Amino acid sequence: MNAGIISTGHDYPDGVLTNADLEKLVETSDEWITTRTGIKQRHKAADDEYTSQFGVRAAQKAIDRANISIDDIEIIVCATTTPDQILPSTGCLIQKELGANNAAAMDVVAACSGFLYGITMVESMIRTGQIKHALVIGAEVLTKYVDYSDRSTCVIFGDGAGAAILGPVAEDKGILATKIMSDGRYDEQLFAPGGGSRNGWTPEVLENRDNCFKMRGNELFKVAVRSMSKVSKEMLEKTGYTVDDVKMVIPHQANQRITDAVASRLKVPEEKVYSNIAEHGNTSAASIPIALDECLRDEKIVEGDLVLMTAFGGGVTWGGTLVRF
Ligand code: COA
Repeated sequence: MNAGIISTGHDYPDGVLTNADLEKLVETSDEWITTRTGIKQRHKAADDEYTSQFGVRAAQKAIDRANISIDDIEIIVCATTTPDQILPSTGCLIQKELGANNAAAMDVVAACSGFLYGITMVESMIRTGQIKHALVIGAEVLTKYVDYSDRSTCVIFGDGAGAAILGPVAEDKGILATKIMSDGRYDEQLFAPGGGSRNGWTPEVLENRDNCFKMRGNELFKVAVRSMSKVSKEMLEKTGYTVDDVKMVIPHQANQRITDAVASRLKVPEEKVYSNIAEHGNTSAASIPIALDECLRDEKIVEGDLVLMTAFGGGVTWGGTLVRF
């Protein structure tokens, strides 16, 4: 038995923050944001909305489509860097709302690579028969951790959630290869230094907005391209496939220029590389499952298709997963 992705779902806030809206907040322009990132708008949670709400809605859609009972779910992994609260985990809060009381639930903090981290963790549990069904969610409300006075960071991020039910499938299908990696030496390329046990909620932390994301975008760009290209090639080499066999590449939606550079290194034509960054921006752990669900809903991916997913995020973390649907 292999572990396969048997259904997906996604959800995002109704609120939208356009490039024109950002022009009113910081010194920037639609032209700058579009040419440097490909982003035109991002969805933004209202003040009274929070991460688990979007996670629950995305998960419920995936559960309904999987045709399983809620008690069939034996583990819930919620990938998020923007939890509802420090304790309990957003996974547990989602479990409560879903009534998935036959499951273990937890969070994975691996920034934008979190969804592939979750997939990789549950894959071996399903393949070895330890569990049958898993719910993996990527959910973020990043806009509450963004410093809207920092123009080089605030233009990138948006909110949303995506979810997948994984379960046993035939051996020629499902997850054929998956790998996760990290390199903590690059910890300060994308980080929020305040608001934890090292630098608590002091007046200085709040004044410097150290609880918000700080990003060295330029440096991150190069490591992201290198890491995603390398792990993607490894996934193909390991399984003996080439890019010609792949129906769709779904990269983490970090920046259109990162996506284009990865596509060029992999020698994949533009039409085989999915992008929704113009509408969603960078939704971190939610970006791949949102993109995957959009592809499945629009039948850009159908049964039998080979799909290559690759992610990169703060930590730094990265990963690749090759799946036959
Ligand atoms: N509007 C206008 N000008 C801006 C700006 C904005 N929103 N943000 C930065 N600039 C300016 C800078 O101040 C700088 O000006 P200077 O030359 O006068 O100093 C200039 O634009 C170039 O800045 P730089 O940071 O080198 O731009 P860049 O081409 O690297 O683009 C990012 C910035 C953030 C768009 C880009 O680095 C990026 O997307 N990196 C990856 C980020 C990412 O994906 N993060 C998530 C990883 S999962």
